[in-house]
Amino acid sequence: MFLYQVLPKIPVPPLKQTLDTYLKCVQHLVKEEQFKKTKTIVEKFGAQGGVGEILQNKLLERRDKTSNWVYDYWLEDMYLNNRLALPVNSSPAMVFQTQNFRDHKDALRFAALLSVNHHLPHCQLAGTPLCMEQYYRLFTSYRYPGLKTDTLKVDINAASSAPEHMIIACKNQFFVLDVVANNKQLNETEILSQLEKIMKMSENAEERHPPFGILTSDGRTEWAQAREELIKDQTNRDSLALIESSICVVCLDEPCDLPPSDTNRALMMLHGGGRERNGANRWYDKSMQFVIGMDGVCGVVCEHSPFEGIVMVECSEFLMKHITGSPSRMVQQSSAKALPPPRRLLWKCSSNIQAFLRASGERLQRLVNNLDMDVFTFEAYGKDFIKKQKMSPDAFIQVALQLAFYKCKGRLVSTYESASLRRFQGGRVDNIRSALPEALAFVKSMADERAGFTDSEKIKRLKEAVKAQTDYTIAAITGMGIDNHLLGLLKVSKELNMEKPEIFCDETYVKSNHFILSTSQVPTTVKMFCCYGPVVPNGYGACYNPQPNHIVFSVSSFWENTETSSAVFVKALNEGLLEIRDLCNRSAAAATKTSESSQTAAAKPYKSGK
Ligand code: COA
Repeated sequence: MFLYQVLPKIPVPPLKQTLDTYLKCVQHLVKEEQFKKTKTIVEKFGAQGGVGEILQNKLLERRDKTSNWVYDYWLEDMYLNNRLALPVNSSPAMVFQTQNFRDHKDALRFAALLSVNHHLPHCQLAGTPLCMEQYYRLFTSYRYPGLKTDTLKVDINAASSAPEHMIIACKNQFFVLDVVANNKQLNETEILSQLEKIMKMSENAEERHPPFGILTSDGRTEWAQAREELIKDQTNRDSLALIESSICVVCLDEPCDLPPSDTNRALMMLHGGGRERNGANRWYDKSMQFVIGMDGVCGVVCEHSPFEGIVMVECSEFLMKHITGSPSRMVQQSSAKALPPPRRLLWKCSSNIQAFLRASGERLQRLVNNLDMDVFTFEAYGKDFIKKQKMSPDAFIQVALQLAFYKCKGRLVSTYESASLRRFQGGRVDNIRSALPEALAFVKSMADERAGFTDSEKIKRLKEAVKAQTDYTIAAITGMGIDNHLLGLLKVSKELNMEKPEIFCDETYVKSNHFILSTSQVPTTVKMFCCYGPVVPNGYGACYNPQPNHIVFSVSSFWENTETSSAVFVKALNEGLLEIRDLCNRSAAAATKTSESSQTAAAKPYKSGK
């Protein structure tokens, strides 16, 4: 908490700077006529004494009064107001290496090790101080569905009443596992013995309840409606309260009966395979859900509103390092002292709720059938090669993603790359708008063969594109991004009950916020990868994990959209990355040759003089 106080507040960028950058970012993405219109609107908005100035002053006041002027605006806009279902559309997942479980006991042992270690070390900082607030939210948050907007509840200050139970999902049933007994944390052996009891209890078909977890996979408004029906009954209210106040959910999944390829494992983490597989063995509102498949398909699914993917990664790595570092040191089961049996959560199911369950199951099935996922490991090179070119690996990969899109569609589209704001108080993210004009100039030189660009022109454009991307990244992570700023201006106008300023009604603004390409770097130091779905129906999700000698890309899109195909995108990405490497190598060879011949030429008179 001390660090929080010394971290600076996020700045409010100068209005003119944001408006100029906005125009630069959209000019090449809309038609010329449309851009002319936009330019006039933006100039009017930014004029002295104009609407922009009034809103900017209000934002500056807000910055003074609050610790983070954008946090609430951003949280509502990015997550809480979004009505789409959490699986695929919002909740990212970490996919672990396939675990080699010999039997279900091995799987439960793995689950016990995960469960016992949910306390993260609180300080993992190196270099720039970063805001740690997101870490405190990992095991203390719950997202409540609402009819219009959701609510994120965080119990950060409840140290004395910290939750002492986890929820175990098994065969679509939910159980309470107390991790503290007689004021002592349960050890691994004790947790294992409780998990075994849970597994047995779940097998009793007579006591089985309908798959209530599937309701949480639905659209947020639909789930809120179902929840209103649920809470009419005291038994349901009690069960919900236990889930909502738990540390986390541990999902013991049935084997998914699919080859455990990277892509299939990613699908299982993102949506559980629908109601026929493990889709109902989840509770999506809870921030951390650890998934342990009896077939070794394991990972974590996160409700995204309390924290960013990087925090999820650090938590996953911490746990995996502990598990793999632990010898099979489980004490014999007999040493687990007698503990009260875990409790099964009970539910009352009215006919209305049955209808909700059916409808949620059908909608989840549609989402499952719709997700086109392709996890691709590019093996020709990784960030070491890129660093040798003296370029930022992240910027280089972003430019390669632009090239891939251009190869598929012959144009660039509004692109989102998340940029961390954790160097500021309560900082989350802003957007790096990677579809920059410099990127367009480069991809055109690569893809338009008829134009016949020379290698030296192409490499010059590559360097300019990478530099522009790097400059934007630096601006974004230091609080000079434009997306949060524009959102802030819009929200302030609403708070002032002003008519929506023209700049935000403009077709260009709407288009610039429709992120057809949604990208994010999520690097790991343990072998695992992150994945998520597209954020718009006609878009791609592209998450990447740069490693020294390879890069893992998780590309997603929707089958229902005929304009997108993850396989086609991956093919273009692979080709583009190879072409850029060849370009760099040819240019380096040409440069060596030129310098050698100039050295020879320079050396000649000396030699002849000798
Ligand atoms: N020449 C040689 N090496 C270079 C270089 C250059 N010109 N530019 C950068 N590098 C090196 C860096 O020093 C760094 O080295 P390291 O591997 O020893 O640490 C490495 O390349 C990576 O740097 P870069 O590729 O520039 O990226 P980054 O690590 O700074 O990350 C962002 C950039 C935008 C991804 C990061 O700032 C960020 O915001 N991350 C959060 C993203 C996020 O929130 N994701 C989850 C969303 S849910």
